[in-house]
Amino acid sequence: MAVSQQVFLRDAMRRLNLTRDVFAARIGVKRRALDTWLLPEGSLEARSMPEVVQRFVTEIVENDALLSKYSQSAQSGPLRDRIAVGGKHQLLSVDQFTRESVEELFSVADIMQPIARRQKVSRVLEGAVLGNLFFEASTRTRVSFGAAFCRLGGSVCDTTGFTFSSMAKGESIYDTSRVMSGYVDAMVIRHPDQGSVAEFAHATNIPVVNGGDGAGEHPSQALLDLYTILTEFSRLGKLMDGAHIALVGDLKYGRTVHSLIKLLALYRGLKFTLISPHGLEMPEDILEKVAASGLHTIEQTHSLEEGLVGADVIYATRVQKERFSEGQDDGYTAEFQVNRAIVEQVCGPDVIVMHPLPRDSRPGAHDLSVDLNMDPRLAIFRQADNGIPVRMAIFAVLLGVENLVQHSMRDVTWSPPSHIGSDDAAFHGMY
Ligand code: NCD
Repeated sequence: MAVSQQVFLRDAMRRLNLTRDVFAARIGVKRRALDTWLLPEGSLEARSMPEVVQRFVTEIVENDALLSKYSQSAQSGPLRDRIAVGGKHQLLSVDQFTRESVEELFSVADIMQPIARRQKVSRVLEGAVLGNLFFEASTRTRVSFGAAFCRLGGSVCDTTGFTFSSMAKGESIYDTSRVMSGYVDAMVIRHPDQGSVAEFAHATNIPVVNGGDGAGEHPSQALLDLYTILTEFSRLGKLMDGAHIALVGDLKYGRTVHSLIKLLALYRGLKFTLISPHGLEMPEDILEKVAASGLHTIEQTHSLEEGLVGADVIYATRVQKERFSEGQDDGYTAEFQVNRAIVEQVCGPDVIVMHPLPRDSRPGAHDLSVDLNMDPRLAIFRQADNGIPVRMAIFAVLLGVENLVQHSMRDVTWSPPSHIGSDDAAFHGMY
């Protein structure tokens, strides 16, 4: 098998749109057996699947792939060409994706998992240099993009803030972008103005990734959020189609939710409950886009208690005070706080609680509470961890090396800890 057993099975289930239970039943094996085949190599409970199962699943997947190949002949060619913007290999908005292309990207992210988990190393991007240009505060986006590029064998040059860049001397976006393009092979840009990253991208032919443009979009975050939901749903035996997603908090200025709701809308029959304080509602143009497909239900409320009932996913967000006009009140009172009490009161045992992070943990902030930290339903750190494989997949696809990764892998020479966080034990090796 060219890919690991885990990647092979996850890809098969995703392509066939089947939950673990249904997939196990279809191929005539016990769900427990399937679970052990899906565990990462090296985990104690992991088992090899019998060769007959592998051949059987390959046949199903290949037939299905053949069918879709005939019905979607326009969809052939490298993924980077199919998601290109004006012929350029860039990631500016989730609007560039279809359901098929997003799932193809996730198959690449699955291949990256042994590298992201520090079991393997790869040098496919050896010699390539990434320019990480962050003109706004960032911890995880900047570091995870940098780490993802390094883990593929590339190197990273950073610039942070306006103060230490020539933009403080009045340099234009066009000049900055063109000059940087002479130095690096790809750029990730975060900038406080909506549309500014597209302006950077316009001035260059090297791959540009939008790391967040003001209140506009944050496509890589939405991709890792969707990847997390699909991974968690696979563990819980749920399907994306028909899921109930509750988005909570600052839906007006939060770029992560702007990208996420559009990406989720590629699926079918979703119920979106949008819970925000007065004045921080989701912008109309985004709502219209999501509603246009006629496939989804959208409800808006100012009551957290009502909105969370029946949710499969709670996605909480921070109030983006830095984008407020002077004197504007956030209205984010205690009633909007996602905490243990409300989750216990209105949610089921298999809800997942997400947040793009950072969460504001200062007194009086009412952001996602830390009192859920020991609750396995809190997926925020698994979500942040997924930033690495997903961002590696983005680079591999944009630079056209995704097919080289599998064969480039070697074992790591050092020993990483088996649990990377002190509270990870409950979920270690479960997905
Ligand atoms: C978000 C951002 O910068 O948009 N963070 C992130 O990238 N993970 C969310 C936020 O700042 O609240």
